[in-house]
Order: sequence, then C-alpha cells, then structure tokens
Amino acid sequence: MADPEHNEPQVDSVTGYKTTGHEWDGLTELNQPLPRWWLWIFYATILWSIGYWIVYPAWPLVFSATNGFLGWNSRTAVDQEIAELQDSRGPMVDRLTNTEIAAIRDDPQLLDFTLAYGRAAFQENCAPCHGAGGGGAKGYPNLIDDAWLWGGSFDDIAHTITFGIRNDSPDSRFGDMPAFGRDGILTPTEIRDVSEYTRSLGGLAVPASADLAAGAQIYADNCAACHGDAGEGDQELGAPSVQDAIWLYGSDSEDVIATVTNARNSSMPAWGERLDPTSVKALTFYVHNLGGGE
Ligand code: HEC
Ligand code: HEC
Repeated sequence: MADPEHNEPQVDSVTGYKTTGHEWDGLTELNQPLPRWWLWIFYATILWSIGYWIVYPAWPLVFSATNGFLGWNSRTAVDQEIAELQDSRGPMVDRLTNTEIAAIRDDPQLLDFTLAYGRAAFQENCAPCHGAGGGGAKGYPNLIDDAWLWGGSFDDIAHTITFGIRNDSPDSRFGDMPAFGRDGILTPTEIRDVSEYTRSLGGLAVPASADLAAGAQIYADNCAACHGDAGEGDQELGAPSVQDAIWLYGSDSEDVIATVTNARNSSMPAWGERLDPTSVKALTFYVHNLGGGE
C-alpha cells in the first residue's frame, strides 16, 4: 500500500464532511470527530476510576493491594456476614445443644432448624459417599430405608456417626467378615454353593448347577454365627440381613461370590473427631428422620 499523500483538507462532495487531507490510492479520509457527549462520558469514566482507586482497594502490590480510604475489603465483608449469621443462629444452636434428641420433635421451630442444619451438614460431609438424598450406592448404605446394618435408634445412629465403622477409633463399629476364598477357608466350589444358598435365603433364583444342600451345610458351619440361621443378620456385628432384597454389594451370583471370596469390610470415618457434638446431633436426627428410624 502506498503511503498516504498529504493534501489540503477539502470538503467531500458526497457526504458534505471535511476531509483530513490524507489520501491513499485515491481514497480520502473524512474528518469525523467523536461526538461531544461521548467524549464527556469518556472523560467522566476516567475521573470515576481515579476516585474508585482512592476509595476502594485497587492496585495490586507485591503481597497485598492498596487499601482504599474506606478500608472496605471483600474478605472482611464475608467475615462480618458469617459473624452476623452465627449470631442470628446462636440461640437456635444453643437450643439444639440443650434439648434431648427425642424431644426435638415436640418443638416445631427447633424441628425445622434441626432438619435444615442436619441437611446442610449432610450435604457437606456425607453426600459424597451416601448420595445427596442419602440413597447410597454400591458399598455405601442407603440411609433412607428401614434396614440398618448397625441399628436405627437415635443411640445407635449417634454411635455409628460419632465413632465410625472399622477405623482406628477404639469405639468404632467393628465386625469383620473373613475372606473365605482369599484366606483359603473354603474352596471355590464351596464358595459357589454357599453363595447360591445365601442368595436363595434372599428369595433369589439360583442356577440349577448349584448344590444347595451342600451350601446349606457350609452356611450353618461358617456363616450362621454372624448372619443368623435364616440369614436375618446381626446388628451387633454389622452383619447384614441376607433375607431382604437389599444387597449392599450386589445380588448377582458374581457379586455374592466376590463378597464371600474377599469379604468387603468397608469403613467409615469417626465424625466425632471432625464435627462438633451439636452437628453430630443434628446429623443423627436428620438421618433418623430420613430412614424409618427405630
Ligand atoms: C468415605 C465414605 C463415607 C462418608 C463420607 C460417610 N459415610 Fe457413612 N458409611 C460409609 C460406609 C462404607 C458405611 C457402611 C459400612 C459397613 O458396611 O458397615 C457407612 C455407614 C453409615 C451408617 C450406618 C448405616 C446402617 O445401616 O447402620 C450411617 C448411619 C452413616 N454411615 C452415616 C453417615 C453420616 C451421617 C455421614 C456424614 C457425617 C457419613 N455417613 C459419611 C461410608 C461413608
Ligand atoms: C464374623 C462374622 C461374619 C461371618 C462368619 C460371615 N459374615 Fe458375611 N458379612 C459380615 C459382615 C460384617 C458383613 C458386612 C461387611 C460390610 O458391610 O462391609 C458381611 C457381608 C456379607 C455379604 C454382603 C451382603 C450385602 O448386602 O451385599 C454377604 C453376601 C455375606 N456376608 C455372606 C456371607 C457368607 C456366605 C458367609 C459364610 C461363608 C459369611 N458371610 C460369613 C460378617 C460375617
């Protein structure tokens, strides 16, 4: 492209505007200054930003930023809001702390508060494993139903939450199923027969190849001590009922055989070490309320 030629400004015959006098290859540039009103707004925004820098925190320094005359800062603003929230909650939290868990239901205002508090704590701490609504997943028990591994009374649930399951806490729930295959207690054929027999206790259809009579004997010798003669389970040991339709680790032949071969013995942290007693109380009430608490 050629350099512009510089001519004397002229009036463009088509638009009636003056030209700047610049011309490129026969194209002349019209001189159209910005409208006044636009320019004034532009200058005003520059002035506004200077004022803003002075009043609010603005310029980044090496480790912080300029503070601004007002001393306002988003972090202290959040701290203040949290403090206000805690103040407003304070009396309800005290009420919850000082009320017997079984009596919460008699106080409608406290009941609402406890359920909301419990739900929030559940979403934050428990939902990753038990699901947002407490519905559970494979290996993570459903807390909505009526079936309890370790008991569904307020005391049982509070104990389970406070001390957890199969962890280092001396008070944690404890009860280990042997790994019948991995530890060589039963042969693969025996495991298949006893697994199918166990499934039959739960009313599931079993393949014709399974020897249920042999399975029943193996069950009586190896399993009944924990799971009960008829598969009713034992909450002292956390041994699930195998009579019901609820299978924590799956009810297919493969799933049950895997359970008997390797055992599962899953664990849960002791929440009493992480949460304050009032939160544990709210969670206990919330979980009890979710499922048919006992
Ligand atoms: C890291 C995963 C994990 C988290 C997080 C977790 N749990 Fe659990 N929870 C488990 C497992 C696994 C079991 C079942 C253990 C077993 O098989 O006995 C369980 C069992 C339970 C039980 C016993 C259910 C029954 O049938 O007796 C309750 C109650 C419970 N959890 C409540 C909670 C609450 C309340 C929280 C949040 C404070 C929570 N859990 C957070 C993994 C978790
Ligand atoms: C010492 C007690 C004990 C003995 C003996 C025992 N179990 Fe278990 N069993 C448990 C416990 C505890 C669990 C739960 C483990 C968990 O939740 O992580 C369990 C879980 C299971 C499950 C999973 C149930 C589900 O809901 O998915 C099956 C199936 C099972 N056992 C079958 C057997 C069979 C078959 C035998 C005998 C060959 C046996 N168990 C022997 C304690 C025992």
